[in-house]
Amino acid sequence: MHNGVIENYSDLKRELEERGHVFRSETDTEAIAHLIEEHYDGDLLAAVNATLSHLQGSYALLVIMEDTERIIAARNASPIVLGVGDSEFFAASDLTPLLDYTERVIYLDDGDVADITPDRLDIYHEGQKVERPVELVNWCVEDTRKGGFDHYMLKEIFEQPQSFYETIRAGVDEGVRRMLMDAGEITLVACGTSYHTTLVFKYLAESLCNIPIRIEMGSEFKYFTGPLRGLVIAVSQSGETTDTIAALNMAKARNCPTLAITNVQGSTLTRVADRTLLMRAGPEIGVAATKSYTAQLAALIQIINLRCEGMFNDILSHAHLAIGDILLYDVEDAVALCSQADHAFFIGRGPFYPVAMEGALKMKEISYVHAEGYAAGELKHGPFALLTPETPVIAICAPGSTYNVMVSNVKEVKARRAPVIALGVEGDTELPEIADIFIPIPDTHLLVQVLTASVVLQLLAYHTACALGRDVDRPRNLAKSVTVE
Ligand code: AGP
Repeated sequence: MHNGVIENYSDLKRELEERGHVFRSETDTEAIAHLIEEHYDGDLLAAVNATLSHLQGSYALLVIMEDTERIIAARNASPIVLGVGDSEFFAASDLTPLLDYTERVIYLDDGDVADITPDRLDIYHEGQKVERPVELVNWCVEDTRKGGFDHYMLKEIFEQPQSFYETIRAGVDEGVRRMLMDAGEITLVACGTSYHTTLVFKYLAESLCNIPIRIEMGSEFKYFTGPLRGLVIAVSQSGETTDTIAALNMAKARNCPTLAITNVQGSTLTRVADRTLLMRAGPEIGVAATKSYTAQLAALIQIINLRCEGMFNDILSHAHLAIGDILLYDVEDAVALCSQADHAFFIGRGPFYPVAMEGALKMKEISYVHAEGYAAGELKHGPFALLTPETPVIAICAPGSTYNVMVSNVKEVKARRAPVIALGVEGDTELPEIADIFIPIPDTHLLVQVLTASVVLQLLAYHTACALGRDVDRPRNLAKSVTVE
């Protein structure tokens, strides 16, 4: 079994074929099997070790020989977690599948090779035997069940009041608190949904407490880093996203203090970063990030609250209730519109711009309706050309300084005959008049509105995907953890 990418696969394959090996597949993994065969001289561990010296790239490797009860595991830049049972061991690429069997786990480090038999585990690093601690998992197996829901995604959407509350309640330890309070410049790196949460954070932190924040996409950062100073925070649900880990490693190489915000205890990111702020979302199984998104926001909003000396304590202690109020929202009319569309636009301003980007990401990844998130003022700079009566525009029109201009944007979209689904606050009398569909969210503090608006968009994507008969929890071509570059 191999997770990862062998970068010198073509060279290895050519050399192996010259030596008479016949390949049966186009996979890079097969080259590993041929190399092991070539080096095997009665000792599987020695054959795997010799093979590893030829490999460039990433691998979580499990090697088993027919009719033997021995597994050799090797890790480089792709995670392996070992489960410790009673006279048995397990190996997986993350914690979740192990929870059915054991709560005791060992995280392998990059460069580790484990020799596993039913009653013995030896771990080697650079040829030397090493000890890796057995850790207790803070998740239980019930967390990995669907619990009566049709999909993990829906269950996870419904778990958000709890995961938000738990993340706030857990707070931050003293070391993390000091790190955050001492930070001058702060840079955040992340990918995908996690990148969107960092963008929401930037808008909120800069407007609510005047902290300048720099945001970098993990996948770009490695190649275009630019000057880097101050605290670097990597945000990742899984803690295993290769690009985010690479970015954090670069920050370390430049002597920046580093903090990981992640949902998975023991994940690679937690072992790279100087300190960790653990989200309390519990295992997230649906490929689409939902409860981890709001838990990340909980962790990030806590940073704002800390830097603002607890100014938002009251709001944060009640925010989960507002999220709960959204869960049973009826978005049927909006779903009917979106499920007939090939394209949709999500628009917002300020922190609602990344909320719109996240809404679009959710929509496209699980329903396959092509969706784009735009800063509302940008539509007229090109995308207007795409507006038709079949192109719904989902507009987040929160109260405040951008409300009037958002209403103007909605009118501009309507003038191009595109249907509008507007999210606004309860009691708004203008939007229901001009939008085709109006979805009211509670009239709360900005910090809570970004959460409630996001949850509405999650429900919209989820129900649209269901209406279209999509495989919601396992959308095509996507993986839960992106452990390749
Ligand atoms: C979002 O629904 C996706 N699952 C994806 O964008 C994800 O957020 C991204 O791959 C980053 O993952 P991470 O948070 O585990 O680093």
